[in-house]
Amino acid sequence: MAIEFSERIRRIPVYPAAGGYADAAPPVRLASNESPYPPLPAVKDAIEQAIGSLNRYPDPSNSLLRTRLSERYGVPTQQIAIGNGSCDILLAAGEALLEPGAELVYAWPSFSVYPHLSAASGATAVTVPLDQQERHDLTAMLREITVATRLVVVCNPNNPTSTAVALSNIASFLEEVPPHVCVILDEAYCEFNLLEDPDSSVELLHSHPNLVLLRTFSKVYGLCGLRVGFALCGSPEMPRALDQVRQPFFCNAIAQAAATEALAHQDAVTERVTRTIAERISVQERLLALGLQVAESQANFCWLHLGEEHEEAEVMRGLEQRGVLVRGGAALGCEGALRVTYGTEHENLRFLDALEEVLLGVNAR
Ligand SMILES: Cc1ncc(COP(=O)(O)O)c(C=O)c1O
Repeated sequence: MAIEFSERIRRIPVYPAAGGYADAAPPVRLASNESPYPPLPAVKDAIEQAIGSLNRYPDPSNSLLRTRLSERYGVPTQQIAIGNGSCDILLAAGEALLEPGAELVYAWPSFSVYPHLSAASGATAVTVPLDQQERHDLTAMLREITVATRLVVVCNPNNPTSTAVALSNIASFLEEVPPHVCVILDEAYCEFNLLEDPDSSVELLHSHPNLVLLRTFSKVYGLCGLRVGFALCGSPEMPRALDQVRQPFFCNAIAQAAATEALAHQDAVTERVTRTIAERISVQERLLALGLQVAESQANFCWLHLGEEHEEAEVMRGLEQRGVLVRGGAALGCEGALRVTYGTEHENLRFLDALEEVLLGVNAR
């Protein structure tokens, strides 16, 4: 007889992992919105140094990293939470805020982890379709907030559609959200958003104690292999609650050391963002030339619709045969679309050439 799992486990959706990890010839990995650039030399040195103390537990309060983040953003350390990736913070927030009878509001399609929050807690998920430009429809989201709402998540720029809404719209939205409802503004990709200064949302924390800005070292800092995220919170209650529901030592010593060092190299970060945005412009041009419908990207990835004449699964197969891994829309709640991370110039050309061949029906060699 098979093991019988809890109803909660049966409710939690399983997100298909990106493949290619065991391939002999490394594929062009454009499926997980990673940085194509390796860690900076100074970050590698910090990692090397941290290895020498691995016989000790890591600092459970992540104090040096929180101090550096506090200096950088002007947010008190008690209002900063660290996580084993920002996903860890999201899941902990779900656990701290949600329960059966409570409601969680988020846009759809959006980040695949949000459905876990309701499934794991037994709360009700209220999903709100994106607007015509595949951006968050904040007015429609406001309409869904009820007395039962505990948490609203806004992903800006949105994964998977790459689009962003203006911060002024988010500010007006926050004015209307009741103060007891927590709003997580998931800004995993904010550094790539040309509509705003990535630091301007931090101002909103002063007037909104219910706001949480969720950020990560996984994307622009290129440290996703180590798992570090952080949250800048409008009040100290949220970091406290997050710590209550998690195991101690959730952020390992190497990750803390690497993230602390990475923060000190903002010029290099900006330079990498500039390179990614240059790639964004050239990839976008070529996709449009192929006649594809492409969303306005403010992220390190694009979102394109294949149109009726091309089947997503077939295009994905064709790309994979040519050694290029991207994310199919079906796994993200939107069949017939692709989410493609911007890689290096070479990787992007490999993707574009492969896509062109697949769309033209050329057989793989
Ligand atoms: C919108 C969004 N938020 C959060 C994350 C989580 O990132 P991490 O847990 O690596 O910090 C991702 C990762 O892809 C994401 O796309």
